[in-house]
Amino acid sequence: MRVLSVTSEIYPLIKTGGLADVAGALPGCLAPMGIQMRTLVPGYPAVKAALQNIETAHIYPVFFGGSAQILSATASGLDLFVLDAPHLYERPGNPYTGPDGKDWADNAIRFAALSRAGADIGKGILPSFKPEIVHVHDWQAGLVPAFLHYEGGAKPVTIVTVHNLAFQGQFDPALLPEIGLPDEAFALDGVEYYGTIGYLKAALQFADRITTVSPAYALEILQPEGGMGLDGLLRQRRAIVSGILNGIDTDVWNPATDVNLAANYDVRNLTKRARNKTALQKRLGLTLDPMRPLFGVVSRLSWQKGLDLLADVLPALTAAGQLALLGSGEKSLEEQYAAAALADPENVACIFKYDEALAHLIQAGADILLVPSRFEPCGLTQLCALHYGAVPLVSRVGGLIDTIIDANEAALATGVATGIQFSPVNAVMIEAGIRRAVGLYQDKNTWTELQKNGMRSDVSWHQPARRYAALYHEALRLPV
Ligand code: ADP
Ligand code: GLC
Repeated sequence: MRVLSVTSEIYPLIKTGGLADVAGALPGCLAPMGIQMRTLVPGYPAVKAALQNIETAHIYPVFFGGSAQILSATASGLDLFVLDAPHLYERPGNPYTGPDGKDWADNAIRFAALSRAGADIGKGILPSFKPEIVHVHDWQAGLVPAFLHYEGGAKPVTIVTVHNLAFQGQFDPALLPEIGLPDEAFALDGVEYYGTIGYLKAALQFADRITTVSPAYALEILQPEGGMGLDGLLRQRRAIVSGILNGIDTDVWNPATDVNLAANYDVRNLTKRARNKTALQKRLGLTLDPMRPLFGVVSRLSWQKGLDLLADVLPALTAAGQLALLGSGEKSLEEQYAAAALADPENVACIFKYDEALAHLIQAGADILLVPSRFEPCGLTQLCALHYGAVPLVSRVGGLIDTIIDANEAALATGVATGIQFSPVNAVMIEAGIRRAVGLYQDKNTWTELQKNGMRSDVSWHQPARRYAALYHEALRLPV
């Protein structure tokens, strides 16, 4: 079976969040099931710099204001199609924003172009790769199902995966002709969304299957509270909505071999893990104390992640423990955490950048990994934490519900607990969660059991890959 995946990010070439991790892992985990996945990505500078075995697969003499080509290439073991359109993608900054942090003014065109190329490959423009399925990710690839719908004719099955409903891609309706959609598309049962062109809405309207990245989030987005304006449409289409949990790449994330750690360890020799805590405390200038509970955060700094709420209860955290935070994003949050670190450098250390190596050391050195998200489609950092023996302390939302088993009396009695959940998401309950975590940490036997249960959980792509394969078969009406 041939599947084209269309995404605006792919690890290890270009990443702003978990979408890249998922897009990067899917092809490899589906290959053993006989699914040949190739991935279409924009030709950002970081992508083009990594390419090998480059061939021109298709030329567009005129393409959204310039000329473009589809390259067939490989990079880091990935089979790629790269939309090489320098006038759209060859710029500094990240995929969506310029160096000034503002969205590129022509994002509507940049991602309509990505979808256009995805739809063309879907229709068989490349004789060497005619996919039966086009699997698109998030709003950036959301117009693929719309293009295929309005153009009619034979088309592949389309699947959209929603990684985050908060990002919807809404643009000026005046752009409709430039994007290449007919006037009739600007309708309630088309791409129209609150007076704009909605790229994610378009995908939800026209895709043959809709998935999101956890079963709990798949239910939350059907409700007005979690649906972010799209719940009505999602309810209409609920028969084709499902949730498939993400996994993590257990080759990249393996405490037994991870080169970023001060000491490697696994579930059978967990005591070695303590050396990573010391290394982390040392590196961040925290007081060296093996007994003081060390809380870690590895996150985008944004409203979604609830870190403003955590900032409000830092005194309660530092009364009992320490915080190591690695994150970047909203400037106001950075300022708040920088001030907290300045006021209490022995207990609070905050690093504001994207740093993979440090993310690994935090997962290996922290006792507790905090994820106080207001909403969380899946979340990958708590999966890394489980695998590394950092006990996750998480809000009870979305994928955090599905991946963490709260250490309540029943779960402790049956020996299945892997972490701590709190609900609802507010400062009072985060503080209560911190107190629970500290209490459990002091009971060494229970704590070790939590760590070991987490480390033995299957957080790999093994199960998720089987579910995607089953979905592809079902969507193509092949025997599952
Ligand atoms: P989201 O995609 O919403 O940001 P996820 O938990 O799904 O959240 O994925 C985040 C990914 O980005 C994880 O792989 C995490 O380790 C990584 N990450 C987030 N912030 C940083 C950072 N500052 N430095 C290094 N890695 C980070
Ligand atoms: C999004 C979500 C996150 C999810 C990731 C990968 O960025 O915020 O919860 O894990 O996508 O699916």
